[in-house]
Amino acid sequence: MERTLIIIKPDGVQRGLIGEIIARFERSGLRLAAMKFMQITPALAARHYAVHEGKRFYEGLIQYITSAPVVVMAWEGLNAIQLARKLMGKTNPLDADAGSIRGDFGVSIGRNLVHGSDGPETAAFELGLFFAPEEFVTWERCTDAWIFEEN
Ligand SMILES: Nc1ncnc2c1ncn2[C@@H]1O[C@H](COP(=O)(O)OP(=O)(O)O)[C@@H](O)[C@H]1O
Ligand SMILES: [Mg+2]
Repeated sequence: MERTLIIIKPDGVQRGLIGEIIARFERSGLRLAAMKFMQITPALAARHYAVHEGKRFYEGLIQYITSAPVVVMAWEGLNAIQLARKLMGKTNPLDADAGSIRGDFGVSIGRNLVHGSDGPETAAFELGLFFAPEEFVTWERCTDAWIFEEN
């Protein structure tokens, strides 16, 4: 089982797509482990996007992600990280498949609606930035055995 950090970015919230985006993760079979509605401070944004510091789009990215409220979630399940990236689609909505969040709702790379961790180390780091350990809810769904095959 893996956990991944998903953020509905300011454009997703402003466009009224919170429900639409959450529905896609919920329908996928992944299980919600934590969720909050907040506005990201510049300091937190700098830590979250530290790997992009110095890139041409960095200043605009920090401005964008801190500009308005976001929904931050932890989703868990088998291969949650890779599965979430697939639900999101490629970074540039132009390259994102139809049926993915970015492919269905995005137009610009700088307004691509969602964030999702890109690997296990990144996920652990990012989850720790946004959630305290006690904010993760440990629970079982009555459907889990029908969704997560035990190997
Ligand atoms: N060329 C770009 N122009 C504007 N914004 C960009 C560009 N590349 C990346 N971004 C923004 O920075 C975020 C982080 O980039 P990256 O980690 O490469 O993509 P992803 O979000 O798919 O993991 C992207 O989701 C997007 O919001
Ligand atoms: Mg990334």
